[in-house]
Amino acid sequence: MRNFDEYKEIVNANLTELIPELPEHSAVLGEAMKYSLEVGGKRLRPALLLASCEFAGGDLDEALPYALALEYIHTYSLIHDDLPAMDNDDLRRGKPTNHKVYGDAIAVLAGDGLLSTAAEIVCKGPLVYINDPAKMANHLKASAEIMQRAGATGMVAGQTADIRGESIEPTAELVRYIEEHKTADLITAPVRAGLFIAGASEETLSAFTTYAKAIGIAFQILDDILDVEGDQELMGKTLGKDAEQGKCSYVYVHGIDAAKEELHRLTQEAKDSLAPFGDEASFFVELADSLETRNN
Ligand code: IPE
Ligand code: IPE
Ligand code: MG
Ligand code: MG
Ligand code: MG
Repeated sequence: MRNFDEYKEIVNANLTELIPELPEHSAVLGEAMKYSLEVGGKRLRPALLLASCEFAGGDLDEALPYALALEYIHTYSLIHDDLPAMDNDDLRRGKPTNHKVYGDAIAVLAGDGLLSTAAEIVCKGPLVYINDPAKMANHLKASAEIMQRAGATGMVAGQTADIRGESIEPTAELVRYIEEHKTADLITAPVRAGLFIAGASEETLSAFTTYAKAIGIAFQILDDILDVEGDQELMGKTLGKDAEQGKCSYVYVHGIDAAKEELHRLTQEAKDSLAPFGDEASFFVELADSLETRNN
């Protein structure tokens, strides 16, 4: 296994490799797709996919296209999340949002382009192994996992509940639904996809699914805490907007102190779920700790 920065480096070195070259009349689409990808980002989701695959004895080169697809899907979700019709944000990853640079229409299309490029990657991925049915089946499981959690019962459902949450009385149940789908699904998908590619056991899948869901929900709770008390410069996005827009969050429903307690509880739950693996899972245990104390 490598460390987080090494996985991040691999992702960054290959990031736009699968973005299409387009003729002049549609070239702006490729530019807008690349703009939001290259402008920065933690690369948490693709790093998790590569790390999970290597943890279970899989091959990094096999996992890389799926890791890139995950970052394309995540980046599309951010471009659309920032649109005036959604959260209406001007700043992302420390730079102007996609629609501020390219206009709303091209930003919508850049998101569509990233999502459909990701879909193409995960459809073609398993076909490479058409003469090795067992391996092809593992890759198909990874593909289905990614598209389901990105889709209308996953991240898109969470985003819908988030938008609806602005105009209805929030409940603890709604908050958990939003955290689980808009955020934890795109953190669980790479972990499970990486394990599928490596052909991991049911026990490993089950333990890591608990881990990923817990760090995923914790990730959103901390995002909501940092929206209140984070450093805008470090975060690279405009803060204080959740309260302004009446967002249904853990902080809104339970208060900031309870949010910090829940962040800590979930981080502990994530680490506990990997106890059976001992030191072998130290990458993931250390990652959970570093996510709990992140400031960007
Ligand atoms: C932002 O995700 C959206 C949330 C789920 C809170 P990240 O904080 O991982 O964003 P980047 O990729 O580093 O920009
Ligand atoms: C966004 O949640 C989650 C997705 C884009 C799927 P937020 O709206 O809280 O993310 P930020 O704060 O704009 O990054
Ligand atoms: Mg949002
Ligand atoms: Mg937002
Ligand atoms: Mg937020």
